[in-house]
Amino acid sequence: MGAVTVITSGKGGVGKSTVAAGLGSALARREKRVLLIDGDAGLSCLDHMLDVAEERVYDVSDVISGGAQLRQAIYACPWQERMDLLAAPSREEDIVSPGVMRQLVGELSRYYDHVLIDCPAGIGAGFESAVAAAQRALVVSTPDPVCLRNGAKARMALERLGLRQHRLVINRFSGAAFRGQRVYHSLDEVIDAVGVHLIAVIPEDPALAAATASASPFPERSQGALALERLAARLEGEQVPLVSLRKF
Ligand SMILES: Nc1ncnc2c1ncn2[C@@H]1O[C@H](COP(=O)(O)OP(=O)(O)OP(=O)(O)O)[C@@H](O)[C@H]1O
Ligand SMILES: [Mg+2]
Repeated sequence: MGAVTVITSGKGGVGKSTVAAGLGSALARREKRVLLIDGDAGLSCLDHMLDVAEERVYDVSDVISGGAQLRQAIYACPWQERMDLLAAPSREEDIVSPGVMRQLVGELSRYYDHVLIDCPAGIGAGFESAVAAAQRALVVSTPDPVCLRNGAKARMALERLGLRQHRLVINRFSGAAFRGQRVYHSLDEVIDAVGVHLIAVIPEDPALAAATASASPFPERSQGALALERLAARLEGEQVPLVSLRKF
């Protein structure tokens, strides 16, 4: 059975889908079979990032209604071997229920080493379904105070749903992150505020934004890509020290 990880955040637009796609591709480069599940009904963007939007015919809602086989809603990423996507419903009202999500993931995790579930923005019904089948969660936040406060809310929501294995990913970090801030002055303060152990710091990296915008492979050597590689290694149980933040 593969490991099932949900990528969450309290606030939208912080980089969940970017982290999901980049982490998936880093794991696949480590020779792992990876399934990304797009939990963002109605506003899916992973199919664009993974360059399968054009060929997309069926999605998970067709499987649930009996209109398609599960394998027909799964698309192989053309730019990354061993990485597949289970497409999200195109209509928001077709959101997958937590029970069905558990059933689907239970079946699919037999064929993959890693299942990564990308949450929609916020901590509503889509969040609950995405979290339902996961063994562990990554809470993604940018280093600004509003986002971090919402990260703490996401952590509480996860715990309410019984998911206590969670790790913090600080995304879009730059050397200027704490400069002039009145609320937090260091990463240690940030970790205390969110109440989640830190697993990765991903720098602000235009190469990541360019890759997701153009549906092209994630860069292998940029600072952001290297940080995602280190995150992949840590998720697989390797001891990889956090690099000096002065580099960013
Ligand atoms: N480390 C990064 N460096 C630079 N740009 C980034 C980084 N991470 C994400 N971005 C950019 O931030 C924007 C939002 O990212 P993304 O769509 O992954 O967020 P999201 O949390 O999935 O959003 P939503 O909550 O709407 O699903 C995108 O334009 C993306 O390219
Ligand atoms: Mg997203």
